[in-house]
Amino acid sequence: MRATTKIATTAFSLAALFAGTSMLTGVAGAASDESVAMGKQVAVDRTKGNCLACHMMGDGASPGDIGPPLIAMKARFPDRAKLRAQIWDAQVANPGTRMPPFGKHQALSEAEIDAIVDYLYTL
Ligand code: HEC
Repeated sequence: MRATTKIATTAFSLAALFAGTSMLTGVAGAASDESVAMGKQVAVDRTKGNCLACHMMGDGASPGDIGPPLIAMKARFPDRAKLRAQIWDAQVANPGTRMPPFGKHQALSEAEIDAIVDYLYTL
């Protein structure tokens, strides 16, 4: 009886270990389709990111031109943390910016900002 329990526990631990490993691979590897789709949705949503008000971005309709076009993002922002920081609080890089500090003001959640970065990296 006790031996059975032990085997079951070991099997569970191994399963947890493998689940953890695949999660790590997910973080290090390419973004999931779901995250990219969510990022795009949040970025274009006027009540959320509303990035199109100021930026040309992907196939988004009627973009504004207050900010630079969001193109070739991976080549121009190889450092993911730097790109994320720009969205979290653009005032750090440019105190006079017109870009809202989405993270600092909690206009977007941390997960939403991560998803937007995943989406921007497809542009
Ligand atoms: C009210 C206008 C405005 C909105 C809304 C806005 N931005 Fe910006 N953004 C700017 C301006 C202006 C710049 C130019 C640099 C600066 O002033 O910080 C900029 C710069 C950037 C940059 C750096 C681009 C480069 O080529 O250096 C990124 C990335 C960016 N914005 C992403 C976003 C994303 C993603 C959103 C939506 C979540 C967004 N912005 C919403 C105005 C805006």
